[in-house]
Amino acid sequence: MTKVLVATEKPFAKAAVDQIEAIVKNAGFEFAKLEKYTDTADLLEAVKDASALIVRSDQVTAEVVDAAKDLKIVVRAGAGYDNLDLEACSAKNIVAMNTPGQNSNAVAELAFGMMISMARNAYNGTAGTELRGKKIGIHAYGNVGLYVAKIAQGIGMEVYAFDPFVDAEKIKADGVTPVGSVEELYSTCQYISLHIPATPQTKESINFDLLSKMPANAVLVNTARKEVIHEADMIKLMNERADFSYISDIAPDNKDEYAAFEGRYFFTPKKMGAQTAEANINAGVAAANQIVGFIKEGNATFQVNK
Ligand code: 3PG
Repeated sequence: MTKVLVATEKPFAKAAVDQIEAIVKNAGFEFAKLEKYTDTADLLEAVKDASALIVRSDQVTAEVVDAAKDLKIVVRAGAGYDNLDLEACSAKNIVAMNTPGQNSNAVAELAFGMMISMARNAYNGTAGTELRGKKIGIHAYGNVGLYVAKIAQGIGMEVYAFDPFVDAEKIKADGVTPVGSVEELYSTCQYISLHIPATPQTKESINFDLLSKMPANAVLVNTARKEVIHEADMIKLMNERADFSYISDIAPDNKDEYAAFEGRYFFTPKKMGAQTAEANINAGVAAANQIVGFIKEGNATFQVNK
């Protein structure tokens, strides 16, 4: 029997799990779940007889792939798939997919929630500032970047974007100003919202040189991945520029070093960007449907290890 396992260290909302279970069972498959596990051994045990796997940021390493003797497909219910060992999957003919766009609005809303909280001094009773009229630079104009642009326009911000993989005309058509280089984006915009994936090329790419180009009262908002930040450079910059603030959806590894920068940083305790019922339902249901489509019809749209 085809067994579909949902393995989520950070569980989906119940409504999402219920819908995933219904899709799996309607397809005639068996449903299993492993939530809030703290030990990889539990995941290794649970995947043993799974044919399909749905995960979030859970680490699907070569060890996990090796333990999953019957696995045909793994779907990362979300956008970034840096947690999947694609080589290990390909070596065992396991199809790996993501569910692009399904949780993007939730991530964009969190970016603004955190920006407004920072601009209002975490609502501590003192006078803050407004986002209206300020320049925001969107670093990578994908699904999340597009939602960020729309919200920023609603607030009345001037919106710029840099993405070498997106046609400048498409960006312009959204009322956003495309810029020709990452340096230009950072030197133009007081706010930068990061949406690049974590890849060998982007890891630690947000460094001192780039960040030091940002104008006065700069704010970097990171709802992408902590790994893209050069952590030592960020500390150096925060030390040198008392006007610089850093907001991140998940704390950096060196978070204790930020204690000296009271009021200029905010980190979520866990990655919260996609942590809404709507995003969980969208991404979870898409993942379940993609599994059914692949197993029943061989539909490999959204495969990322082609
Ligand atoms: C994504 O890449 O889709 C987001 O970072 C969400 O990750 P999560 O499912 O672990 O919250």
